Amino acid sequence: TIPADLTSLADYERRAVAHMPEATWRHIASGAGQECTLRQNRLAFERLLLEPRALACLQGATTHTTLLGQRHAAPVLLAPVAYHRLVHPGGECETARAAAAMQTGMVVSTLASQTLEDIARSARAAAAELRHDQAPLWFQLYLQPKRSHSLELVRRAEAAGYQALVVTIDATVKRARFALPPGVEAVNIQSFPSLAQRPQGLAGPILFGTPLVESAPTWEDIAWLRQQCTLPLIVKGVVSPRDAMRAVELGADALIVSNHGGRVLDGLPAAIDILPRVAETVAGRVPLLLDGGIRSGTDIVKALALGASAVLVGRPQLHALAVAGLLGVAHMLHLLRAELELAMAQLGCTRIAVIDRSVLWPPE
Ligand code: FNR
Repeated sequence: TIPADLTSLADYERRAVAHMPEATWRHIASGAGQECTLRQNRLAFERLLLEPRALACLQGATTHTTLLGQRHAAPVLLAPVAYHRLVHPGGECETARAAAAMQTGMVVSTLASQTLEDIARSARAAAAELRHDQAPLWFQLYLQPKRSHSLELVRRAEAAGYQALVVTIDATVKRARFALPPGVEAVNIQSFPSLAQRPQGLAGPILFGTPLVESAPTWEDIAWLRQQCTLPLIVKGVVSPRDAMRAVELGADALIVSNHGGRVLDGLPAAIDILPRVAETVAGRVPLLLDGGIRSGTDIVKALALGASAVLVGRPQLHALAVAGLLGVAHMLHLLRAELELAMAQLGCTRIAVIDRSVLWPPE
């Protein structure tokens, strides 16, 4: 059962520290560089304020929404997060069962610690057991140095029943500093040869000239992927209007405005501060999703007000999984949904689509 003092995502975060090794905690919690962007992701939400609307008629109110033709019980999904087995032996399958039970969409990472087929099976089995419709299940692709390997992942995801492909464009030359404990591996890409780091001596270039950089993907790979992939293509990691337009022109069906939870380039603005500029440029051509710092129902409302169609949560799923497994993740999603309904009620909003800038204070 869930301890009674767990009543918010912040409670899960505080609890989670004691449920994993110190190094794992730091790996999950940390951001790039001085963590300016990580802090901005939260501060920006705190700066945004709301204006309620009392005594609005709330009959027929609902959090349901449709995205890319797929129905979502609420505009919240689980962001792709690597290696769930770092915090729970049940790993991504456990998370997928919780998401299915809560009819919540989940994006499975290329760096999942269980096979994408097993994760899809777990989600389907849980939905069937509860007689639920299957919630959207998407696969996140890190483009591999060899196109044939990327294609192999895409075909496996299509065959396993994933309903969209999320290609992450913002972490293609990230350096791994965290040593995985024994038994936790990126099983879906295990058979691909890893890019050996060439030792270059202290005075040599660090990234430049290495296979990691020499084979880093470009926009041409996105154009190629669009041609290859039969699923809706979602581009994740958009932080500039310029890149947003480029992705749309190449045929992206949706974009995820994200600075990777402050983990890639320190010095980027908060994701929620970037959103209005991207929304203005994209001008409704494709739906926008947002992640980075979403920790409550009011955060969701603020993101929707500034142009997002839905949001994703990253770290909170690992906190909840670490503290209470499947039940924890389901409860975390329940808390978010309860907070979203409460916020919508107080703002006089009966549907997701009506949430706009008029809920913000001062009103515009
Ligand atoms: C991530 N994120 C990420 N993104 C992605 O596209 N593929 C991945 O494998 C991972 N892995 C990953 C691991 C960990 C430990 C974290 C914290 C994040 C980024 C993730 O999808 C999302 O963009 C952020 O986590 C959102 O910010 P919040 O909700 O954590 O503040």
